[in-house]
Formats: sequence, structure tokens, C-alpha cells
Amino acid sequence: MPALMIAPRHDAHLDRVADALRLVHENDRYPMVWPDDPIAWLTPDGTLGAWVALADGEIVGHVMIVEGGKVEYAAELAEAAKVPVTGLAGVSRLFVTPAARGTGVATTLLERVEDLPPRRGRRLVLDVVDDGGPAVRLYERLGWTRVTAGPASWTDPSGARPRSAAYLSPR
Ligand SMILES: CC(C)(COP(=O)(O)OP(=O)(O)OC[C@H]1O[C@@H](n2cnc3c(N)ncnc32)[C@H](O)[C@@H]1OP(=O)(O)O)[C@@H](O)C(=O)NCCC(=O)NCCS
Repeated sequence: MPALMIAPRHDAHLDRVADALRLVHENDRYPMVWPDDPIAWLTPDGTLGAWVALADGEIVGHVMIVEGGKVEYAAELAEAAKVPVTGLAGVSRLFVTPAARGTGVATTLLERVEDLPPRRGRRLVLDVVDDGGPAVRLYERLGWTRVTAGPASWTDPSGARPRSAAYLSPR
């Protein structure tokens, strides 16, 4: 694996980030439903910051943080963190291209986000499909705490509500 660089995402990256997301969707069904407008999906309201992971100039990973109120179970997470919802920032749109997995790209992205100014001292939180898969393993390995779980507020292509879980960052 070539040296990894984490950089702020610029508009000029967006088409290549959407290409990377397409590979992830085809490999992992993430996101479960391919968005009509992937660029809009990558630039939602409430964005606080977004970063790309680059290896040899190729985009191999992506993460963003959004206003805490955008995360499922925001009220429960705020109570667990003992801060108002405005004191939370949600980790969102985290993905790594299939060929770059298992080398610490997501771990590096999450560790860097914790230290970056757009977090503005807010406690990081997230929601994840509660399937015991690589994402859940990643957060638990990094010491994130599960606060609650239940049916998601959204439906998958079959009309079912997948189980989602909410996590609080270790610091
Ligand atoms: C979840 C996801 C982001 C993880 O990305 P990743 O870059 O492979 O994650 P990491 O490499 O940091 O960790 C993955 C595994 O590699 C291992 N690993 C990390 N660095 C390693 C290294 N240098 N050598 C060997 N193994 C290593 C980790 O221990 C971990 O093992 P585990 O799964 O048994 O816990 C990726 O699988 C993905 O994009 N999935 C689809 C999208 C998704 O579900 N996103 C989350 C939305 S909430």
C-alpha cells in the first residue's frame, strides 16, 4: 500500500469520490440505495467538514462530519455524552474502496477527524447498520461505546427497516 495522505475534500475531488462510492455500493450495498444524485448525497446540509484519503493520488477513502442533529438517536447520544445535541458532530459517509481495505485507512481517517478543527470541540457520534460487519467491528475496536439500537428511520429496497445502532466516540 503506497503512503496514505489525508486531505480536506475539495469540490474538484467530488466526481472521483462519487466514482469510489460507486465501487463501494457495488461491493457492499453501501449506501443500500444508490442515490439519484451522488454529489448531493456527498454534500448534505449541515456538513461541518469532509476529508479524502489518497494513496498515490487515488481516492481510497472518505469521511465527513455533520451537525449532530443529523444522526439517528441524537437525543439519546446527547444524553449519554451529557451535552446538548448542538455539542455533537456526526461521523458520516465513511467508506474505503474495496482494494484498499484492511490496511488501516478507515482507522486513520477516524483518528484524524477527532483531531481536526471543524469538530469544534464537539463529541463525535455516529449511527451504523447493526449487522456486526466491518464497520461495527471498526468502531468497537477503536473504543466507541454503543448507546442504543433499534429499527432505522429509513427503509431498505425491500421496504424493511434495518436495525441501526448509535455510538459515542471514546473522547
Ligand atoms: C467499514 C470500512 C470503512 C472499514 O475500512 P478499512 O479501511 O478496511 O478499515 P481498517 O483497515 O481501519 O480496519 C479493517 C480491518 O483491518 C485490520 N487492519 C487495519 N490495519 C491493518 C494493517 N496494517 N495490517 C493488517 N490488518 C490491519 C483491522 O484490525 C480491521 O480488522 P477487523 O475487521 O478484524 O476489526 C470499510 O469496510 C467500508 O468502506 N465498508 C463499506 C462502507 C461502510 O459500511 N461504511 C460505514 C458506514 S457507517
